[in-house]
Amino acid sequence: MGNESSSPVDEATPPARLHGRTVEAVAQYIKEKEVKNIVVMTGAGISTSAGIPDFRSPETGLYANLARLKLPYAEAVFDISYFRNNPYPFYTLAHELYPGRYRPTVTHSFISLLHKKGKLLKLFTQNIDCLEREAGVPADKIVEAHGSFATQRCIECHTEYPDDLMKEMINKKEVPHCIRGKSCKGLVKPDIVFFGEALPESFHRNRSLPARADLAIIMGTSLTVQPFASLPSLVREDTPRVLINLERVGSLGSRPDDVLLLGDCDTGVRKFADALGWRDELEELWENTNPDKRERDRQEEPLKTRQERLDEEVEKLTKDIDASLKLSGEANRRIKEELHLEQQTTSADTTNLSHVYPHLRANKSDKPCL
Ligand code: OAD
Repeated sequence: MGNESSSPVDEATPPARLHGRTVEAVAQYIKEKEVKNIVVMTGAGISTSAGIPDFRSPETGLYANLARLKLPYAEAVFDISYFRNNPYPFYTLAHELYPGRYRPTVTHSFISLLHKKGKLLKLFTQNIDCLEREAGVPADKIVEAHGSFATQRCIECHTEYPDDLMKEMINKKEVPHCIRGKSCKGLVKPDIVFFGEALPESFHRNRSLPARADLAIIMGTSLTVQPFASLPSLVREDTPRVLINLERVGSLGSRPDDVLLLGDCDTGVRKFADALGWRDELEELWENTNPDKRERDRQEEPLKTRQERLDEEVEKLTKDIDASLKLSGEANRRIKEELHLEQQTTSADTTNLSHVYPHLRANKSDKPCL
């Protein structure tokens, strides 16, 4: 594990399980073997076409463009010790990367389609942009190995910080502090794994899944950050692995059943979908993530009249009031019964307890207790 050879497999070596080292052969394998347990591993390269830069691409990557943040070294922006002293560079970046501004790519939709087809065992992602969720991959199918912007907490006392406040602070480019106020003035940080922090427990819990996969797809990652980078080597030797990436990375290409689709991810997954006969479904699924389409769908919904909406509101309020009246009546009856029992055993006067159970005073006059 981790130290397998990275030299490319000899062209003359035939694949062991596939009919060829092509995406068509992988599609055939998926169909013939009724493959259901696909493990997908992704990195920043699957989000670049959404407009989010990756980290290490020489000119366009984030680390090559952080001069404006005046960091001692590029990765300091995600370094927990640096953050404690100076959280501003991270929050400047967070303002740009915060979820909600970007649309999932067709590659995200391809992963979602694998799930819809009942073939996704697990998605391991290093990305913090939450675009997989937005594309429809359910949370329980995703291992966010480097955390995400989905939740946040104080770095000192670990008190959770509310989502709406976080959104507001990031929009205002302000640094959030613990909501416990004077008792803790800790900095708040999204639950993104910084250098120097442990990976989430879900990563370790699911780490055995690559060995159970009957196909692995690795996309848009340089496989430079451990322990994520070792995941592809945990896939069994005789299990096909597909790399869809601009460049060859890690040990991919060194095994007889490794298939390399070198190029951009979106083109790669479209080719994959063509080979599987899923292209139309893929494009349709991706179109559903288009904000213009969502807006069109919303406008096409039958418009309720103002009166209809008001009537619904009044009906809901009436039901809520009825329910709470019923609940209070029921609670009242139970407390009365309990006190009656207590009175029988202790011969105490229940009214002496009226400072503890103020509703007892109301009971005397049979008023509803709200
Ligand atoms: P990197 O920036 O290291 O690697 C991105 C990979 O995707 C490179 O191999 C690119 O060539 C490739 N790539 C870029 N755009 C692509 C495209 N459109 N189609 C196909 N391939 C493309 O990003 P990660 O591997 O995700 O950690 O980086 C791993 C970790 O390093 C990140 O999670 C982050 C960073 O420090 C933390 O934030 C803790």
